[in-house]
Amino acid sequence: MAREKDKAVQAVDISSLLKMKKKGQKITMLTAYDTPTARMLDDAGIDVLLVGDSAANVVLGYKDTLPVTMDEMIHHTKAVSRGVKRAMVLGDMPFMSYNISHEDAVRNAGRFIKEGGAQAVKLEGGAHVVDTVERLFRAGIPVVGHLGLTPQTAGMQGGYRVQGKTAATAARIVEDALKLQEAGAFMLILECVPDRVGEHVSKALEIPVVGIGAGPGCDGQVLVFHDMVGIGTGFSPKFVRRYANLGQEIVEAASRYKQDVQQGSFPAKEHCFTIKDSEFELLVKKR
Ligand code: KIV
Repeated sequence: MAREKDKAVQAVDISSLLKMKKKGQKITMLTAYDTPTARMLDDAGIDVLLVGDSAANVVLGYKDTLPVTMDEMIHHTKAVSRGVKRAMVLGDMPFMSYNISHEDAVRNAGRFIKEGGAQAVKLEGGAHVVDTVERLFRAGIPVVGHLGLTPQTAGMQGGYRVQGKTAATAARIVEDALKLQEAGAFMLILECVPDRVGEHVSKALEIPVVGIGAGPGCDGQVLVFHDMVGIGTGFSPKFVRRYANLGQEIVEAASRYKQDVQQGSFPAKEHCFTIKDSEFELLVKKR
């Protein structure tokens, strides 16, 4: 795998992430679905690249995350692994890849590691997935939990909405988080909860808590790369900060290219290959 090529680079692993939490150094995570993006984010020093099931709606054109398959996720995970020297690659288990049986969950999670080159897998859910997390842990597969808003079961949560807004629902998140930690999860992603709940959960756990829409008190932050650089649907969740407007730049670049081609200013002399006059004359005479 790409990570082994450069022995001089200290790859991010579970113990380095735990150390970061202990030292109060914030963990950075972004989604990536392809090799060039993985390379750029790795060069930027991002600690964890999440091959999110958000690939479904962000780059594959599905309307939500549910239809993406194991084979599609492995394809994208392989591409990301090939671009990385330092970052941890985290494969996101798609809907129904860990919900049917423990055997199925272990087999599918194992594919992310063996075929995809990921170092860990992520799955969504609280108390009801604790047994699965334990089985994966016993199989030697590092697991990251995902609580708060869980997009694969957003329908059961009343849609894409903030979770843990009451003492009772927030307490349930804390309980679930502790159970996941106990079952062997080495990190937790916490999505769309009030900032004080994000901080409270992070303080309650020994493992790092990486937030998305969970406030600055978490041990790290994750965003969907395309949201962060302004490529995509136009809808931007409240928790996103846009660091670039690449979508608009790409549209402008493609429009200029179209105009140049139509007006004949591209390709110019410097983009052309040449043939000797003598050869060209021979060619013309032949006709
Ligand atoms: O799939 C994904 O991109 C995610 C993030 C929202 C954390 O799970």
